[in-house]
Amino acid sequence: MADPIKLTVSEVITETPDACSLVFEQAFPYRPGQFLTLRIPSDRTGSVARCYSLCSSPQVDGHPAITVKRTPDGYASNWICDNAKPGTTFEALGPAGVFTPRSLDGDLLLLAAGSGITPIMSIIKSTLAAGAGGLVLLYANRDEQSVIFRDRLRALTERHPDRLTVIHWLESVQGLPSAAHVRALTAPFDPAEVMICGPKPFMSIARTAMDLPKSRVHLERFVSLGGNPFDDATPTSSDDSRASTVEVVLDGERRRLRWPAQTRLLDLFLENGLAAPYSCREGACSACACRLVSGEVKMLNNEVLEQEDLDEGIILACQSLPVTDTIEISYE
Ligand SMILES: Cc1cc2nc3c(=O)[nH]c(=O)nc-3n(C[C@H](O)[C@H](O)[C@H](O)COP(=O)(O)OP(=O)(O)OC[C@H]3O[C@@H](n4cnc5c(N)ncnc54)[C@H](O)[C@@H]3O)c2cc1C
Ligand code: FES
Repeated sequence: MADPIKLTVSEVITETPDACSLVFEQAFPYRPGQFLTLRIPSDRTGSVARCYSLCSSPQVDGHPAITVKRTPDGYASNWICDNAKPGTTFEALGPAGVFTPRSLDGDLLLLAAGSGITPIMSIIKSTLAAGAGGLVLLYANRDEQSVIFRDRLRALTERHPDRLTVIHWLESVQGLPSAAHVRALTAPFDPAEVMICGPKPFMSIARTAMDLPKSRVHLERFVSLGGNPFDDATPTSSDDSRASTVEVVLDGERRRLRWPAQTRLLDLFLENGLAAPYSCREGACSACACRLVSGEVKMLNNEVLEQEDLDEGIILACQSLPVTDTIEISYE
């Protein structure tokens, strides 16, 4: 595993009655839309690992920040909202993920619900500051009180009236949005890319409403990790005799390894002491994404990469088995 980083909370901002932002002291490079994986202490299990998207912009904000919304009866989100204060430290992995627009200069249609606004906020701030693209945000919430970043979004639309349009949808006023509603509201726009983030029902409605090729639609699913990447890695390789050869470039270092046919690429790297990044190890988060430079692999599960990512040679190391005799991988 890539070495965890230590993050110290410098500020806690109450965003709504059930959401708070944590600003961290430490700065690090990341792309708008990426997430961190935090280790949350637990008396019951030692710790749990949860992913939280960065709401800050690498182009605008000096310090990285995440926004956490309480999940009813959830463990980690409530622990954070109840306990985090200036000085609290977290072990963290990241930044990771591929929920990033290909260009900040193309027009983007952004569809968010509830805490799904977090990575979208980072993308909005970065695009307005460093790109030329126009932005339309359709943002669904339960009621006015639960609209995270309401005032900051208003200030941004006032400052960039020709580049940012925000359409609010309040369930308390308009009821649950349907695919027909989303289609009607977004029909006038012809975006280069669409970014969708929110709870599962909203994501399927929004995806159904978008009559666009998969390659132009990015989805970020907010799920809780099943495993805990902070626990010791438990490689699953068997010592089978059929094997390929993989050459990998990671952190500027080139290594050549024997890759047994039934061993997942991430497990192979970890067994051999490579600091390959990962989080869920379930094919659901994209933290382990790397580039297939040559050769062929088979992915056992992929819930996160889009066709365009695959066309560009992006693969999930945690789900990849070798197909061809020689394979070349790059993390650069
Ligand atoms: C890429 C990505 C980005 C995300 N970004 C955000 C974001 O920006 N903002 C946001 O709010 N959410 C985000 N999420 C969702 C977030 O990771 C969590 O899923 C969410 O906060 C709910 O977690 P929870 O532990 O509160 O709830 P649950 O996962 O529902 O918690 C319940 C689970 O905790 C276990 N549990 C209960 N008590 C304990 C205990 N004492 N010790 C150990 N385990 C216990 C239970 O067995 C149960 O499995 C993101 C998810 C992903 C994958
Ligand atoms: S570690 Fe999450 S997809 Fe591979």
